[in-house]
Amino acid sequence: MIYRMIEKGVIALAAAIPLLVIAALFALPAAAQDVKFDSDGALAQPTGYREWVYVGTPVTPNDMNGGEAPFPEFHNVYINPSAWAHYKSTGEFPEGTVLVKELVSVGSKAASSGKGYFMGEFIGLETAIKDSKRFPKEPGYWAYFSFGHSYPLAKEAKAQKTATCAACHQALAADDMVFTQYYPVLRAAKGTR
Ligand code: HEC
Repeated sequence: MIYRMIEKGVIALAAAIPLLVIAALFALPAAAQDVKFDSDGALAQPTGYREWVYVGTPVTPNDMNGGEAPFPEFHNVYINPSAWAHYKSTGEFPEGTVLVKELVSVGSKAASSGKGYFMGEFIGLETAIKDSKRFPKEPGYWAYFSFGHSYPLAKEAKAQKTATCAACHQALAADDMVFTQYYPVLRAAKGTR
């Protein structure tokens, strides 16, 4: 009797294993889960990214760029948490990586701490997404989106042409088209298991 029950248990377990494997596959970071595309392939303005993992803030102030920085002024960069976890353990940006660069104006140039550049208001939003299924022809499978440089931002955006954004990233960025040379958080995380 006991043996029969054990036997049944083993059979039930064996039957469950393929189901567990299938469930695990679905749980893997799939293509761009943290953002939404409409049926025309336009990307909806990302939400919730201020609670993702923060990786760095390059700053290109207008007053050092002839009054008109191409991307004004602070650039707060965030990565989606599942891609962060993958990058931390493998040193690679996985399928479904989303990088958001939120532009913030320089609000003030002096504070009680000294002279400098201090953040003012949110003014713009750019996004890079790695997705081989959606963007099979883009270098590194990265596509780039701009929601504008002044509020109100566009509600959705189409992928930019390769020459407009990807070409510069491909030529000059340190790691898989991402400018990790300016993101100490990503550099520190790479390879640490
Ligand atoms: C001439 C070079 C150049 C072009 C063209 C360019 N970028 Fe970038 N991009 C950079 C540099 C340099 C950084 C990092 C430093 C910074 O933000 O100033 C960056 C960072 C980014 C980031 C943060 C993640 C990362 O890859 O480092 C996003 C998102 C981004 N750019 C989107 C865009 C979009 C969208 C376009 C096209 C509309 C674009 N970029 C065009 C040079 C470029």
